[in-house]
Amino acid sequence: MRIAILTISDTRLLEDDASGERLAELAAGIASSVTRDVVTDDLEAIVEKLRELCDSGEVDCILTTGGTGIASRDNTPEATRAVIERESPGIAEAMRRETAAKTPFAMLSRAVSGIAGHTLIVNMPGKPNAVEECFEVIRPVLKHAVELLHGRTAH
Ligand code: MTE
Repeated sequence: MRIAILTISDTRLLEDDASGERLAELAAGIASSVTRDVVTDDLEAIVEKLRELCDSGEVDCILTTGGTGIASRDNTPEATRAVIERESPGIAEAMRRETAAKTPFAMLSRAVSGIAGHTLIVNMPGKPNAVEECFEVIRPVLKHAVELLHGRTAH
């Protein structure tokens, strides 16, 4: 599985992006390749980067971190919705539900999950502990999700 990590932040650079780095470490445990990028909170910039990654044909799953909250510059869910053709809401629902026991702030994330072509996109909040908690929830289903997207439907 080829995973792309996309950090969405007006302030972080690749060098000081702790949540993207943590997510890349976690993804490396299940992926054949992991790439990393950072983009600003601009809606158009996020859409453009997500489309570029999906259209490359080289990414099975994009995990975004950041920009899912309710602040005015939090555009990640809207950008994701603009790119996906179908939502896969159970993934985002499970992350919120399962991590709410650890922090009530989980309810402030508007994270979206869905499919663009053969690529699964999953939003996560922008903190290292949040990506750890959320990745733990979805890790068991990611491989099967990507197999299904590639038409491998056997269980
Ligand atoms: N989810 C988990 N599992 N752990 C967290 O620490 N932080 C919350 C929430 N979701 C958090 C979490 C907080 S404080 C916010 S503001 C929202 O995610 C949105 O964060 P974001 O704007 O960085 O995406």
